[in-house]
Amino acid sequence: MSIFPPEKRIWWKEPIERSEILWIVIALVWSLIMFVMMPYWHIAGEQNLSNEAYRIRPEVFAERTEAMAEKYTVREEGDTGIPVVHPPAGSDIYMLARLWEWWPVLELEKDQTYRLHLSSMDYQHGFSLLPENINLQIHPDYEMVVTIKPNRSGEYSVVCNEFCGIGHHTMVGRIHVVDK
Ligand code: CUA
Repeated sequence: MSIFPPEKRIWWKEPIERSEILWIVIALVWSLIMFVMMPYWHIAGEQNLSNEAYRIRPEVFAERTEAMAEKYTVREEGDTGIPVVHPPAGSDIYMLARLWEWWPVLELEKDQTYRLHLSSMDYQHGFSLLPENINLQIHPDYEMVVTIKPNRSGEYSVVCNEFCGIGHHTMVGRIHVVDK
C-alpha cells in the first residue's frame, strides 16, 4: 500500500533484494519464451491460418462472387433456393457475408486446393467453420484470402460468431466437400 510516502524517500537507490532479482529474471526469461513461442507455434503447431488480407470495395467483391456463381452453379438448395456453386479445383472461390446469410453455398472437391476469398457487404461478421475450429473476422472493405485444402468429405457449416443484429442467429452458411 502506498497511501503514505515510503520511509526512505530515495528508495530507488537501495540495493535490490535477492528475491526481487530472481523474480525479475524469471519474468524476463518467461516473457522471452512466450515471445519465441508465438512464431514457433504458428509454424510448427499448424493451428493458425496463414491468411492474407486486401482492401476491396463491397461492390467489387459482390461482382466477383456473382460472376463465379453465374458460371459454376450446379443446383439450388433449401427453401430460399440459394445457389450451390461447384467451382473448378484449384481456383479462386468467393463467399460473401451480409445480413443475414453467407452466399452462395460452395461445393468443393476433397484433396483439392482453393483460394477462398471472404468479405462482408455491410457490417462485421464472424466466419466460424464447423466442425473444424476455424475462425475469421470478416469486415466490409477488406477481403480475407485463405488457402484451403479440404481433407475430409462431408457437410460443413459456416456460423456467424460476431453479433450482427436481429437475424444473427439465423446466419448459417454451408460448404459441401465431395469425393472426386
Ligand atoms: Cu453475421 Cu452475426
